[in-house]
Order: sequence, then C-alpha cells, then structure tokens
Amino acid sequence: MNTDKKKYLLANWKSHKNTKTARAWLLRFAELYQPAPHVGIILAAPFVHLPLLAELRAEHDLAWLSLAAQDISPFPAGAYTGAVCGEMLQGLVEYVMVGHSERRRHFHETLQEVANKVREATAASMTTILCLDLDYAQAQIAALHHMPEKLLIGYGPVEAIGVTIPQSLQGAAAGITSLGKLAPGVELLYGGSVRPDNAASYAAMAGVSGLMVGGASLDAHEFASICTEVAAVFAATT
Ligand code: PGA
Repeated sequence: MNTDKKKYLLANWKSHKNTKTARAWLLRFAELYQPAPHVGIILAAPFVHLPLLAELRAEHDLAWLSLAAQDISPFPAGAYTGAVCGEMLQGLVEYVMVGHSERRRHFHETLQEVANKVREATAASMTTILCLDLDYAQAQIAALHHMPEKLLIGYGPVEAIGVTIPQSLQGAAAGITSLGKLAPGVELLYGGSVRPDNAASYAAMAGVSGLMVGGASLDAHEFASICTEVAAVFAATT
C-alpha cells in the first residue's frame, strides 16, 4: 500500500457513530465513491467499529479501503486493563494513528508514550500515522530514536483542527516545508478543517501525499465528494 506514488485520503471519525450509523456510512460511501487506483482511502474509526467495518469490507469487496485505529496501547499484551494492544489489531487494520493532538491535549499523552505507541504499532507490522504539530515535532521525532520504515506523518496544526477558519495555504505550506526538513522522505498527510471547498487546494500543495479529514468525513456524501475531487487533483499532479 505504502508505495512512492500512492496518495491517501483519511477519514477520522474521532469519537463519533454507533454500530448502525457506522454501517450505514460505509455502505453509502461505497455506493458514492468510484475508487481511483492511485488513491488509498483510510477509515480511522473507533476501536469498537473496526470488526464490523472489516467484515463489511470483505463482504462487499471493498479492497480499496484500508482501516486505521485511532490509537494503540503503549504496551504489548498483558495486565493493562482497558488497553487495546497491537496484537488485537492485527488482521483488522493496516494503519494506526498515534499522537493526535486531541490525545495529547485531552488524554495528556507524552512524547515518550507516543514513542512507545509507535514502537507497538511497528512491532505489529502496521503503518504508523504519526500526528505532529510544529511545536513538538522535533522533540517527538527525537523521542522515537529511529524512524520506523512504515510511517506517514499526519500534520495537523492544532489551531486549524475543528475550526471555522482553516489555516491559510501559505501557513500550511510553511509547516509542510519545516516538517519535510525534520523527516526527509516521509510522506505527509495534511489535516485541519479540510472541507469540500478547500480540499483541492490543500491536496495540490507541494509535499502533500494526502489529507486527513475529521468533521467533514462524518457525512458519507460530503467525504465522498472530497475524495472524488481530490482524487482528480492527485491524478493531475502525480
Ligand atoms: P477536522 O479534524 O477536519 O475536524 O479539523 C482534522 C484532524 O483531526 O485531523
């Protein structure tokens, strides 16, 4: 999946949806979205929905769809009540998001915990989507000690997430350039209030290998229209 020319569109449902609405979303999205060969769609869903989504993917032949966990335990399997470890996610997901700014802010995740989660995702042979903002990117990368081979960076400027005024293209470009210097050669997904009216502009920026869509991914129709438009942009710029 993680080849040079591949581009990505990631839907981050965050803490939304129940079994019924998760199922309805996937079936609706599959009707609306025409898979593009160079674009991988990644659905980052709450843990509890992953088995259902994996089942639906197999049942409906949605081979173009990858699943991501939104988090992973910083520990291997063991006496860690409530934790979901890498071994449990094997066979369910291909990607694991680690260190989203909402987890750092609301769950007080530290640089070391995030580094431990990257280690666990890597040990389980998954691709880590390491979420970073500029303030702590350098310290976070240093805490990893070495970059895993299967890695994407999710650049989500904290001030741009879930807001009404998204980051300017100039601001985003400056951040992407800085991260590119800190993690040369690592593909980067941009996230932060990506919506149908601005997705194509972010997708067309140099250094962007994909987009992470939060709020605008909750509606299957809205996300499908972003995917369709952005897949065309990627096709034109790849
Ligand atoms: P948002 O979330 O699209 O709701 O701003 C993006 C993210 O958290 O990556």
